[in-house]
Amino acid sequence: MTQEALSNLLREHRRFPPPAELAAHANVGESAYAEAAEDRLGFWATRAERLTWAKPWTQVLDWSNPPFAKWFVGGELNVAYNCVDRHVEAGLGDRVAFYWEGEPGDTRTITYADLKDEVCKAANALAELGVGKGDRVAIYLPMIPEAAVAMLACARVGATHSVVFGGFSADALRARIEDAQAKLVITADGGYRRGVPSALKPTVDKALTDTVEHVLVVRRTGQDVEWGGRDVWWHDLVDRQSAEHVARPLDAEHPLFILYTSGTTGKPKGILHTTGGYLTQASFTHWEVFDLKADTDVYWCTADIGWVTGHSYLVYGPLSNAATSVMYEGTPDTPHRGRWWELVEKYRVSVLYTAPTAIRTFMKWGDAIPAEFDMTSLRVLGSVGEPINPEAYVWYRERIGGGRAPVVDTWWQTETGAMMISPLPGVTEGKPGAAMRPLPGVSADVVDEEANPVADGSGGFLVLTEPWPSMARTIWGDPDRFVKTYWSRWDGLYFAGDGAKKDEDGDLWMLGRVDDVMLVSGHNISTTEVESALVGHPRVAEAAVVGATDPVTGQAIAAFVIARGEGDVDVEELRAHVAATLGPIAKPKRILVVPELPKTRSGKIVRRILQDIAEGREIGDATTLADTTVMDSIKKALGL
Ligand code: WT7
Repeated sequence: MTQEALSNLLREHRRFPPPAELAAHANVGESAYAEAAEDRLGFWATRAERLTWAKPWTQVLDWSNPPFAKWFVGGELNVAYNCVDRHVEAGLGDRVAFYWEGEPGDTRTITYADLKDEVCKAANALAELGVGKGDRVAIYLPMIPEAAVAMLACARVGATHSVVFGGFSADALRARIEDAQAKLVITADGGYRRGVPSALKPTVDKALTDTVEHVLVVRRTGQDVEWGGRDVWWHDLVDRQSAEHVARPLDAEHPLFILYTSGTTGKPKGILHTTGGYLTQASFTHWEVFDLKADTDVYWCTADIGWVTGHSYLVYGPLSNAATSVMYEGTPDTPHRGRWWELVEKYRVSVLYTAPTAIRTFMKWGDAIPAEFDMTSLRVLGSVGEPINPEAYVWYRERIGGGRAPVVDTWWQTETGAMMISPLPGVTEGKPGAAMRPLPGVSADVVDEEANPVADGSGGFLVLTEPWPSMARTIWGDPDRFVKTYWSRWDGLYFAGDGAKKDEDGDLWMLGRVDDVMLVSGHNISTTEVESALVGHPRVAEAAVVGATDPVTGQAIAAFVIARGEGDVDVEELRAHVAATLGPIAKPKRILVVPELPKTRSGKIVRRILQDIAEGREIGDATTLADTTVMDSIKKALGL
């Protein structure tokens, strides 16, 4: 891959200035950039002061042993205290922390006072099970309030949690339990998925290792479970505990959680995040990027707690800011395809944070569905997880945000812990498809193979050039791999595989992984750009592009598209549309219309499988897919 690789520019000229009202009262204004540029560490020190510390730090950053950072050296604080107790002490006990909506329609409203009681009881329960500071706890739960309570209880007692997405298999769970040597697993009998109870406990039973002393089980569905000697019901143990528990202050660098990255190859990497720096940045970015007005906003992050977005922007960020959140257990199409918009209307949601994969699904389902609901409460819309193509951005803005609400496209990673590159809704003139600029206090650049910054108008490798508070501290148990994976390509630069381009104004456009770049007749073309061009056609809801080996051109572009609207799609018209948008070189050789695309559980397209199809090979391992039946419907549609 060369630097020319990522230099093709999409011609996107639409601009959306911040709403005047929002800009006038924005939490963070333009001056923050200058303040941070002048004194980056001083900037973060001031943001850390938004939290309540039991003991002040003596040094903002110790970077004497890169890439192993220590932030807020010597400081002590408790994350659970910061997310719960201090709000109750400040008189906000009656404020709603979570409006929880179960998939079948059961609901719970949990105030900060309720949450404090629950977290304290759960912390006492952990102590009774012999779990304390320095132990690891695996959490394998559906999207129920106990998931947040369990995370906070661990944080409270200094146990390090490892949340494993409830859709993962027994093998995946076992590998994570083993790697972290978890002492306790917290799970449920099951959860609801597409209207039916789906069991979790049997998976845990299959995944247990010798280090696990107890399994704490929440009763959610009431389905039958097998019971073993290590098993304890949550309602038996937690409910009888005292609601009094003193949160112990922990060192700023105490391990808060491990989260395994969802890589498709190799042993999963246990990304380690610690206490003070992580909470500082998760909290501040949540307040800054969503312009959070905690006393009036209703915030909804649709991510599962099993992903880092769920950690930073469903639990730690919003709770540290005393926000009121919606938490939803189920899928967007149960019991009907308007479920999300019904919830926005019901709770008057004002800030929504979701992923492009969801947005494109809603586009496919049609404009009529969201139009049935009153969504005038929405004022800021967020996107995360993959590049948001311009058409999806504009659809989100218009059809969900009523043309009023700005879209903030937030780039970050499990490894960065919190948002890094994003517009600020009260400052930035939005460009559909662009993540724009590094946030104040964050230093990023786009470089060529020799680590030279590329000129405006060119593409290259996205690197982070200075340490940041919520950065991963290491890979659990494997510091060498941490150095090798992220810090070894260029001296002193963090690189995790993403490509980006700088436009003529120097604003950043994320292009996904650099491995997703095709070499066609000697030209480098990014899959993201071809996909965006395709989705720019009114008949395309979603597109996935791969380079398939071709005897003539090296790689030939093969595109898989999902149709939007009724009737047959004219494939020749789509090819011509891409040629007109990006140039003839980017014209796909083949376009295949399919009903669905193979995706991982976090919504990322598995290109390897599409490549197998495009190259006429037997389809390889499909076990990482969120829904394995997708392959059958694709094969059927293509007559394979
Ligand atoms: C990778 C990280 C960050 C939480 C969810 C994913 C891609 C993420 C964007 C964005 C373009 C994005 C990158 C990144 N990505 N956000 N706004 N625009 N790409 O966390 O599973 O650790 O994945 O997701 O490729 O490296 P993750």
